[in-house]
Amino acid sequence: MDLNLKDKKALIFGSTGGIGRSIAEALIKEGASVYINGRTIEKCKAIAQEIGAAGFYAGDLTQKGIAANITGQMITDHKGIDILVTNTGGPKKGSFLEVDLEQWESDFQSLWLSVVESLQKALPAMSAQKFGRVLLITSLAAKEPLPGLTTSNGLRAGLAGLVRSISNEYAKDGITLNLILPGYTNTDRLKALNLSEEKVKEMIPAGRLGEPEELADLATFLASPKAGYITGQSIAIDGGVLKGH
Ligand SMILES: NC(=O)c1ccc[n+]([C@@H]2O[C@H](COP(=O)([O-])OP(=O)(O)OC[C@H]3O[C@@H](n4cnc5c(N)ncnc54)[C@H](OP(=O)(O)O)[C@@H]3O)[C@@H](O)[C@H]2O)c1
Repeated sequence: MDLNLKDKKALIFGSTGGIGRSIAEALIKEGASVYINGRTIEKCKAIAQEIGAAGFYAGDLTQKGIAANITGQMITDHKGIDILVTNTGGPKKGSFLEVDLEQWESDFQSLWLSVVESLQKALPAMSAQKFGRVLLITSLAAKEPLPGLTTSNGLRAGLAGLVRSISNEYAKDGITLNLILPGYTNTDRLKALNLSEEKVKEMIPAGRLGEPEELADLATFLASPKAGYITGQSIAIDGGVLKGH
């Protein structure tokens, strides 16, 4: 199937590794011009070269204004944006009383406000060209709380409401917005959480972890013009963990 992604301009946050990198690689294979992001210039430069990205915008999404600056800069530099993927590193673990206000503020900035900041810049540009694809990488925690991931459980649920609201406003402009909810996916993030792989697999009907490339295939379709009638949705890719939501 030709997904008509050739020369589409894509900005993918949090894409020097894990899920974001896999999405970047998949879009590059389809001929898109992909701009990647991560916290340091050195790593962005190395990964951009390795995967054949068109360029990069380094910046730390826990810092106020960074997502807005990067998105605005990308639109100015390349005269528009067709595809925006919001993504970043996962938050620290902690039960409710272990999470102090500083962590709430930092996680709110990186998981929530960075998304708002980049949408405020991208939507007017997409609207002007009557085409846009926005994908938010969140988590199955948006629908089913994960043990100890308090800020993720709280903040990610709200993003689905925000996307439903915005997708109502922008559907007529040819812009779709969808959330992808990864389940247990084989990346450095999962390793850092230090979970027992055996126990995790027992919770997954498919009996195995997801691969970031599988998620990237879904993202690539949703980012394409062919997916123009899918918007406002939260789509889990989790081997069957979530049910009845
Ligand atoms: N893997 C899973 O099982 C799973 C399940 C549910 C949800 N998720 C969520 O999906 C998202 C991606 O997960 P992943 O597994 O791909 O994580 P990962 O392997 O840790 O990769 C995270 C990516 O984000 C970048 N990043 C981290 N902090 C950043 C920051 N402050 N500013 C800008 N970029 C930043 C990293 O690049 P640099 O190091 O170069 O900055 C890296 O490219 C996370 O939010 C995670 O919580 C993952």
